[in-house]
Amino acid sequence: MNREQKYRRLEQASPEEISDLRKKVRDSVWRQTYHIQPITGLLNDPNGFAYYAGEYHLFYQWFPLGAYHGLKYWYHTASKDLVFWRNAGIAIEPKEPYDQYGAYSGSGIVKDDQLYLMYTGNARDRNWNRRSYQCMAVMDANGTVTKLAEPLIDHVPEGYTEHFRDPKVWKDKDRYRCVIGAQRVDATGTAVMYESLDLLEWQFVGEIQTKLKHFGYMWECPDYFELDGQGVLLFCPQGIAPEGEQFRNIYQSGYLTGQPLDRETLVFEHGAFQELDRGFDFYAPQTMVDERGRRILVGWLGQAEIGYPTDAHGWAHCLTIPRTLELRGGKLVQQPVEELGKLRREQREVQDTITNEKKSYAGVSGTAFELIGEFDEIDAEAVGIEFRAAGAERTVIHYDTVRRTLTLDRSEAGAMIDSTHGSTRSCRLEAKRLKLHLFVDTSSVELFVNDGEEVFTSRIFPHPDSTEIRFFANNGSARLKVVQWDVA
Ligand code: FRU
Repeated sequence: MNREQKYRRLEQASPEEISDLRKKVRDSVWRQTYHIQPITGLLNDPNGFAYYAGEYHLFYQWFPLGAYHGLKYWYHTASKDLVFWRNAGIAIEPKEPYDQYGAYSGSGIVKDDQLYLMYTGNARDRNWNRRSYQCMAVMDANGTVTKLAEPLIDHVPEGYTEHFRDPKVWKDKDRYRCVIGAQRVDATGTAVMYESLDLLEWQFVGEIQTKLKHFGYMWECPDYFELDGQGVLLFCPQGIAPEGEQFRNIYQSGYLTGQPLDRETLVFEHGAFQELDRGFDFYAPQTMVDERGRRILVGWLGQAEIGYPTDAHGWAHCLTIPRTLELRGGKLVQQPVEELGKLRREQREVQDTITNEKKSYAGVSGTAFELIGEFDEIDAEAVGIEFRAAGAERTVIHYDTVRRTLTLDRSEAGAMIDSTHGSTRSCRLEAKRLKLHLFVDTSSVELFVNDGEEVFTSRIFPHPDSTEIRFFANNGSARLKVVQWDVA
């Protein structure tokens, strides 16, 4: 892809090109039914997630003209219930000198009845060197977005490179603060903090003092918040090598928990870095607190630098379903927001004991569904579920009770996705009972294990006729309880 193609603006495309692209997208067999997905082109990070004027607002990084990382816009979606979203059009266009090569990721905060959207302007100088500006756009209750004339932060502080982006803003009692993802001049990643009294004038405070001095070459999309009196720093370090079952994706998304961040010294006492998700396709999550006080997370259901089968259909990626966050013993637990129950249509239930067999049940099938499968009194060596299956095609969740390992296997899931990074993902799981809560859409699965103790988020690209669901117990038996809902 040459520079000209990459940075094509929407208005450079003819009406015919757009309508051809739309048709290609419409004809794609892998369009989702209840996930936020781009009308055309490529979606990446969730941005500006906030509750404002009676609705949840969720924006995302968007390149309209094809399934590649081109010129990034902010696209706006809104919802009253976190379930049914309406497309609200482009919110931020990259057309100012300070953002003309991309309106990059950022966050939202409500002040004086307006939604402030703080984001990174990606610019280039005459020699094509990157320049990063932190910018502000303000949205009113009618959805009109107005950019401020000048960036809020027009230079990168001493000691950091131009890889300086993704401001996540929050309000403490007496002031606003934001964290920004950064790269030190020695090419290591970190996060820095700024402060402001009015969201407009910002002072650089310094670097968040973690124990991770050499942990990847860049930290993207940091997010800081407190839950149950604990500090949580989410971020996406790039350049972390795989370690056993951990860090197997190209780029990681994870967190540190510990004492609340010391606002004066910026010291953050924390435990080990933990991955947020065990699946293949999860990155750049962003959180917000809603009116009910829930900490809600949405992530990009995708990964950078991998080709996906929908590329040929003119679109790529979607966002995850919204999930609530809680801390359980220093670990972040994710659960689908309860509002998703609104999607449930026809319900089916099964109770059975399965022994050395693989079984399907009448009516328990589909391409887009919610399913809770519980295995109890397990004496089998392995139990699990195959879904989106037909013949040899299937996506498999496999719990090995001897090695105490849970695996998601997409090696036979349908159209191939880059497998140089492997086609299974696993984690250790100590469990006597196994509760597998699945949200399956036409081309994705989000698996919540034992009430969110572990989550596996992945794209899959099965044939539309691969609708079977099978339950198995190998070398022994297990009690099985299944509830499944069609969703719409
Ligand atoms: C993460 C990221 C961000 C950046 C945005 C650009 O996926 O690289 O750091 O702001 O995407 O689209």
